[in-house]
Amino acid sequence: MLYSATINVMVKAARRAGRSLKRDLGEIEHLQVSLKGPANFVSLADKRAEEILYQDLAKARPGYGFVGEEGGTREGTDKSHTWIVDPLDGTTNFLHGIPQFAISIGLAREGTVIAGVIYNPANDELYIAERGKGAFLNDQRLRVAGRRQLNECVVACGLPHIGRGDHEEFRREMTAIQNRVAGLRRFGAAALDLAFVAAGRLDGYWERNLSPWDIAAGQIMVKEAGGTVSDIDTPGDALTTGHVVCGNEYVHGELVKILRKVA
Ligand code: IPD
Ligand code: CA
Ligand code: CA
Ligand code: CA
Repeated sequence: MLYSATINVMVKAARRAGRSLKRDLGEIEHLQVSLKGPANFVSLADKRAEEILYQDLAKARPGYGFVGEEGGTREGTDKSHTWIVDPLDGTTNFLHGIPQFAISIGLAREGTVIAGVIYNPANDELYIAERGKGAFLNDQRLRVAGRRQLNECVVACGLPHIGRGDHEEFRREMTAIQNRVAGLRRFGAAALDLAFVAAGRLDGYWERNLSPWDIAAGQIMVKEAGGTVSDIDTPGDALTTGHVVCGNEYVHGELVKILRKVA
C-alpha cells in the first residue's frame, strides 16, 4: 500500500513507541506505577512512549500542536494542525500483562480529524485511516460488519470503574443492550474497541466519559470503514462530548435508540 507522507510519519512514530512499550512490558516491576486518580494508572511506559511520539512527530512536522494524555497540551506555531495522542491506551491491561493495548495517534486539521493510526505492538496489528482514502489493517482494506439483526450482533462497551462515571446509568444501559444482542464484551482499550468495529470484528461499541485521545484515531477508522460514529445523546461529535457510540448505520441507529430511551 502507498500511504501519504503524513501517514508514514505517524506509522514510524507509532512503531518506535511500540518497541518501547514492548521492552517495558517485560519490566513491569520497574515502571514506577502511580495513580493519577481512582483506577487511573500511569507508568514510565506511558511517559516514555509519549516522549518518543512527541519527539518524532514534532521533528517531522515542527509547527503542529500536540495534545497527549500524559504531557498535556504543547502549543505549536501552526494553529490549524494538532496531534491528538494516547501513548498507551489500555494502561490497566498493559500493567496486568494483558496484550490488549495500543498507541493511538490522530491528526486534526481545524478541529476535524483527518488521519488516524492505531498500533498494538503485542500482536503487531497496525490500523491506518485517512479522510476519503479508507481504513486498513496491516494493508488490508477494512469494512464494518454488515449485520442488521441486533440479536446476531456482538457489541463492546466501556465500564465505569471505581470513582468514575455513573454506575447506575451504566447498569441500565448494559441491561437494555444485553437483552437485545448476541454478546456483550469489555476489552479495556477504547482505541482498539473502535478499531475492532472498523475491522468488522465487533458490530458496535459504546462508552461514556472518554477523552479526545481515546477517540480521535478510532473515530476516523470507523468512518473510513463505512461506519457511523456519534455522541450518544445527540447527533453531535463524540470527540467533544466523550460519549461515543458506533456501528454500521443500522446498528448505530438501534444502539442510539436503546441508549437514549434508558438515559
Ligand atoms: C482507558 C481505556 C479504557 C477506557 C477508559 C480509558 P487509558 O484509557 O481506553 O478502555 O474504558 O475509560 O481511560 O487510561 O488506558 O489510556
Ligand atoms: Ca490513563
Ligand atoms: Ca486511553
Ligand atoms: Ca493512555
